[in-house]
Amino acid sequence: MDLPLSSKRFQLQELSTQDSSELIQKDVLEGLFKRPRSLPPKYFYDDEGSKLFDAICKTQDYYPTRTESALLQKHTQEIIEIVKPSTCVELGAGTSTKTEILLSEHSSRSINEDIAYICIDVCKEVLIDAAHRLLDTYKNLQIKSIVGEYIPAIQAIEKIKSPVLYKFIGSSIGNFTEDEAIELLWEVANKMTSEDYFLIGMDRVKDKEVLERAYDDSEGVTAKFNLNVLNVLNYKLGTNFDLNNFSHQSIYNDKQQQIEMYLTSQCIQEIKFPVFDKTIKLENGEKILTEISRKYTKASIKNLLEKSGLKEAMHFEPSNKYFSLVLAKRQ
Ligand code: TRP
Repeated sequence: MDLPLSSKRFQLQELSTQDSSELIQKDVLEGLFKRPRSLPPKYFYDDEGSKLFDAICKTQDYYPTRTESALLQKHTQEIIEIVKPSTCVELGAGTSTKTEILLSEHSSRSINEDIAYICIDVCKEVLIDAAHRLLDTYKNLQIKSIVGEYIPAIQAIEKIKSPVLYKFIGSSIGNFTEDEAIELLWEVANKMTSEDYFLIGMDRVKDKEVLERAYDDSEGVTAKFNLNVLNVLNYKLGTNFDLNNFSHQSIYNDKQQQIEMYLTSQCIQEIKFPVFDKTIKLENGEKILTEISRKYTKASIKNLLEKSGLKEAMHFEPSNKYFSLVLAKRQ
């Protein structure tokens, strides 16, 4: 059965700037036409990229997903009891697999009975698939899916019923620089009432080898995912990237406490951008930064929250201290 795009239990909102060719052109000009070269990570997540990302989460080497899921599993009852949410708002919801842990606990306890779930993601297909699945399973659920970037999407949310449980899990906050992370967390803190909570999943500083493996898994899925962004540029901008001429690299930068993901040119090559009528020349070994993933300590987590108008209410971590799930309140 096809889900109607608008019904009593499901609503889809697409924010207008999404996918506009002007936006991608501007982003690519800003990132690729200066040095050091970079690409904004949001272009990873086309249909194929979203599938590959799902596959990354299931690899043996990528520990964050299973570590965070186990933590959620273990503490979900406590979280639901503390927050008693009427609404859940999730940034970067993806397939909503981890959120199901919370939803099933919520529905088994019938706290507040109905629950509204607002999912924000840049990938429309993934949001629609997830909504199908969830509405089938949870009859007390209403879903609003917003296709768009986080800050405009948060600003577009209106009339929500407290207590709200805001969620930003999967260590996605780590994909922002410190300043960008503060800006985003502020935006949420600003929306929150004193009854609301914010659940944030953050990856911790650890052994360099473990970190680098997690972002360069031995099955090669992360490499495929990273390279796929060049395909996205090829079909959106008509560029001539040859994926065979690039290799995937993951490097832990100790000083910045972050994983840096690169696509490294394997030869001297020229890339044509017909839309700008321009070319760029890449040297052999020249790197394009495609993603950072910041790693935190307990102290840097506290510090980030403090600067963002939030304060820690609960902090959950596994015994190996690989990951933190933080339940925060507004300051
Ligand atoms: N939020 C995830 C993380 O930082 C995103 C991620 C995992 C990712 N593996 C990746 C992003 C590989 C780009 C490439 O852990």
